[in-house]
Amino acid sequence: MTSLDAFAERKLAQLADANLRRSLATTERQSDAIVMRDGRRLVSFSCNDYLGLSQHQNVKAAAIAAIETYGTGAGASRLVTGNHPLLVALEARLASLKHTAAARAFGSGYLTNLGVIPALAGEGDLILVDELAHACIFGGARLSSATLRIFRHNDTGHADAILKAERGRHRHALLVTDTVFSMDGDRAPIAALAEICAAHDTWLMTDDAHGLGIIDKDADTDDAVLLHMGTLSKALGSYGGYLCASRSVIDLLTSRARTLVYSTALPPASTAAAIAALDIIAAPALRAAARQGTRVYAAPRPARGAEPDRAARARLRRGDASSLESVGGRRLSRRRHPAADGAGRVRPTALCLLSRSSR
Ligand SMILES: Cc1ncc(COP(=O)(O)O)c(C=O)c1O
Repeated sequence: MTSLDAFAERKLAQLADANLRRSLATTERQSDAIVMRDGRRLVSFSCNDYLGLSQHQNVKAAAIAAIETYGTGAGASRLVTGNHPLLVALEARLASLKHTAAARAFGSGYLTNLGVIPALAGEGDLILVDELAHACIFGGARLSSATLRIFRHNDTGHADAILKAERGRHRHALLVTDTVFSMDGDRAPIAALAEICAAHDTWLMTDDAHGLGIIDKDADTDDAVLLHMGTLSKALGSYGGYLCASRSVIDLLTSRARTLVYSTALPPASTAAAIAALDIIAAPALRAAARQGTRVYAAPRPARGAEPDRAARARLRRGDASSLESVGGRRLSRRRHPAADGAGRVRPTALCLLSRSSR
């Protein structure tokens, strides 16, 4: 055995001991929320395609047409091969949705945070992040070399105290939070955070990965939010990420966000699919259907502060896992997530398709 394999085996054993070893389960998505795994037909509670748009006829048709016209790949970074007109159209749509002057699309939500945060903050700067924020926000903050401070989940008093104590010692400060938390399904107090940020000359950045297309009145269009980040990969049913901001910030990122400059652009099919999905989410009926699915399947015991009828996900306490094991004699697909606070989660995710396919 090479020393590399010995290292990997040792690490895997440690992960297994801590119940943190992960594996991939081959799963084939069928219609609606039904999946096949190991020959079993399961109802999926594990998918972020909240509105089922990855299967929507218009979205699929837009992707197919883009492939027919432009091929399957972008070929290189947009700064190398040139800016695809579909990307220009997508960015105009996103900027208009978030009420900003401009937008930039990235290869994924993860790549967006990894590119944007280090381009805006570095050594001598301060970054505050909610303890339950998504891993890629922490990834971007750590990559930036700025001082990272983690505030207690949704605790605006704690964020304020950190800024009072530390803002003066740093050149710039950035506060980043999910709008709808990926773990618990609860929402960030954006208005209160905006006040604190204004008081301490701190830039507020939101990650709306789980809000876009789901939350009716879009709190993420608040003017006090300077940086609106999100993903095309969840409710829009496509793939990719974006940042909406002022023209000067977007121009700066076009030069400095490494995951944009040095990474291949979104393929035409994903871009066209996202544009088609944006057309569809303008229809409130679909969002209402998603909330209906959430009420039926995720409502038994939402976490404190969770709003299962507004966000399409809710946390069940660890002890509730067994109640998810079988409903109507069928095993349910579910996923377990470790979070920064050390508590495991069983995270059921309701799709609007559930109500059609799984009862
Ligand atoms: C809050 C949040 N931000 C960003 C991401 C990453 O987005 P993507 O899947 O497009 O890379 C996720 C994905 O799970 C997320 O939950």
